[in-house]
Amino acid sequence: MTEKKIVIAIDGHSSCGKSTLAKSLARELGYVYIDSGAMYRAVTLYALRKGLFLNGQPDREKVISRLKEIKITFDWDEKAEKNTTFLNGENIEEEIRQLEVSQNVSPVSTIAEVRHEMVKQQRENGKSKGIVMDGRDIGTVVFPDAELKIFMTASPKIRAQRRYLELKEKGLEVDFDEILQNVEQRDAIDSGREVSPLKKADDAIVLDNSNLTREEQLQWSLNKAREKMEEK
Ligand code: DC
Repeated sequence: MTEKKIVIAIDGHSSCGKSTLAKSLARELGYVYIDSGAMYRAVTLYALRKGLFLNGQPDREKVISRLKEIKITFDWDEKAEKNTTFLNGENIEEEIRQLEVSQNVSPVSTIAEVRHEMVKQQRENGKSKGIVMDGRDIGTVVFPDAELKIFMTASPKIRAQRRYLELKEKGLEVDFDEILQNVEQRDAIDSGREVSPLKKADDAIVLDNSNLTREEQLQWSLNKAREKMEEK
C-alpha cells in the first residue's frame, strides 16, 4: 500500500526547536524540508546589501519595488539534515544567521507585500506534497488545508535556558536575563503584529515540549503524521 503524501505545518514561538523537529521529521519520512524563516531572512539580507534601509528601518516602498529581483531557492540534504538557502543562486546560509540579519528581519517580515510574495513561493514548494515547513503562519495562512498542523510551545524560561546553553557551548559570553528578555520580546512582536500574527490554527495540535526530549517529540509527531497518512 502506498502511503498518502501529506503537508506538515509546524508553527510556534521562537527558540522552540521547530526546525530541529521539522528536519528530523523530513528525514524520517523522506520529505522535503522548507525553512520559511530563511526566506524572510534572505529578503532582509538583500535589503541590507542594497541599502534599502532608512534610519534602521526598511524603506517599505523600495523593498516592495525590488521584490521581483529576489529568487530564493533551497537545497535540502536529507541524510545530513542540512538545509542550504540560496539568494539568486548564491549560498547565503551562513550569512542569514548573523546577528545583523536577525536584528532586522522582524520589521521586514511585517511588510504585507513581502509576506504575500513569500507565501506565493511557499505554496509553490508545497504543490507536490511530501513537505514539512516551519514558521509562524504556515498552518493559518500558507497551508490552511495542511493535513497535519503542529503548534509548538515551551515556557519562555525553558526556551531561554536552551538558548543560553547553546550559545555557551559556542563559547560566547552570555547573560541569561538578557536572553530571557529577548525571547519574551520576540514573542510579543510575533504575536502582536498586524499582518499574519503568530497564532495557533484551530485545527493545530499543541506540542508543549518543555519537558520532552528531542526523541520523544519526534516519535510523538511521527505517530500523528502516520495517522494522517493512513486517513482516506
Ligand atoms: O524562524 P526564524 O527566526 O528564522 O524567523 C525569522 C523571522 O521571520 C522572525 O522574525 C519571524 C519571521 N517569520 C515570519 O514572520 N513568518 C514565517 N512563516 C517565518 C518567519
